[in-house]
Amino acid sequence: MSGRLRVAGAKNSSLAVIAAAALAADRSVLENVPLCRDVMTILDILRALGAQAEFTAPGRLELDARDLTDHVAPYELCRQMRASIYVAGMLLARLGRAQVPLPGGCVIGSRPVDFHIRGFEALGAQVVTQHGFLKAHAPHLTATSYYEPRSSVGTTINLMLAASRIPGATVLQNAAREPEVVDTAVFLSMMGARVRGAGTSTITVEGTPDLRGAAYTIIPDRIEAGTYLIAAAATHGDVLIEDLIPEHVTALLAKLGEAGAVVEPEPTGVRVRAEGGLRPVDVDTAPYPGFPTDLHPQLAALLSVVSGRSTIRETIFERRFGYVDELRRMGAECRTEGDMVTITGVSYLSGAPVEAVDIRAGAALVVAGLQARGETQISRLENIDRGYEGLEEKLGALGARVQRVSG
Ligand code: UD1
Repeated sequence: MSGRLRVAGAKNSSLAVIAAAALAADRSVLENVPLCRDVMTILDILRALGAQAEFTAPGRLELDARDLTDHVAPYELCRQMRASIYVAGMLLARLGRAQVPLPGGCVIGSRPVDFHIRGFEALGAQVVTQHGFLKAHAPHLTATSYYEPRSSVGTTINLMLAASRIPGATVLQNAAREPEVVDTAVFLSMMGARVRGAGTSTITVEGTPDLRGAAYTIIPDRIEAGTYLIAAAATHGDVLIEDLIPEHVTALLAKLGEAGAVVEPEPTGVRVRAEGGLRPVDVDTAPYPGFPTDLHPQLAALLSVVSGRSTIRETIFERRFGYVDELRRMGAECRTEGDMVTITGVSYLSGAPVEAVDIRAGAALVVAGLQARGETQISRLENIDRGYEGLEEKLGALGARVQRVSG
């Protein structure tokens, strides 16, 4: 593959910032919002609660939450996506009560919401989980300190949302430091809350009941960028990924460099080239700024044809290995043991019918399919569509032959 490619706005940031926008009985305008299925799902959830939302130009979302009065989020929509739990933090802050189905989403681990619940309780909410719903009630939330049992992106964002209308300082300790947390914090500050420390492990939120709408541009999607950087290296291509924030993909760039790809910063982005053979690497996933779990499957696909033995240790999600059986169908030699996958590079993958079992597993199969001899047919495309906007157009523009086949 060769050419240049522009990264879309961050899906995970958008989900949080859209939920944050609904905290104010006002109108917000968000730019650089990707047109992917998870974004559509959160918008449908907010519409079901009474908000209005529409795309008025590519990437430009106008959201008006003045009429958001319902506190019961619909099961059919929430079960599709784990981030629907953000609606609970938003509703608690906005209406003092929330009834949100326990979320579904990617099948990459047990992914409970116990940290979210304990955090809401620390803020003074009464929470029960009953009949598949999280029901929370708190006429008056109170500022407090909450120590997150482990660094959790979702918990940190949800508690920032819940705290954003509480006067006084809520302190979140052991907070996640991911760029999406920072993006949400910046947006909340623009809405009128005072958020300090985002990007460190202690975040202080001084809320205000007078939150207002704001205009904001979502950061670029570091996971989408990373997926294409990996795809470029995997196909021994020469691709310039534009509009990404290079610091957000430092851990990946370091690993690609270690594997022998040439990674060069350019004024408009990052260029990746891989001419000769690549070398095996060992990777541990970790919270930001470590190697992201959301790029683990794609990297595994690349390593499956790198001569020698590579390992990836998954430290965030216990069931992230759903892609392994699919890669094996294409001839990869991957063995899982506990939290580790060992990949012994084969000389080539062969195209096969495979299944995208979750978003990033699907992205890994795209990377594998681009490397494989012959045609790869990926089913359950809806999983890839949850997180990637215009995937086939973007890859097509770089020279890959990718086609969406109906039925
Ligand atoms: C978010 C991202 C996801 C990414 C992940 C880790 C969104 C919408 N999703 O997911 O793409 O892979 O961060 O970077 O932004 N945990 C609990 N109890 C809780 C909450 C989390 O045990 O109440 C555990 C999880 O099972 C996991 C770990 O904590 O093992 C970290 O999860 P977390 O950071 O919360 O991930 P998500 O916010 O779900």
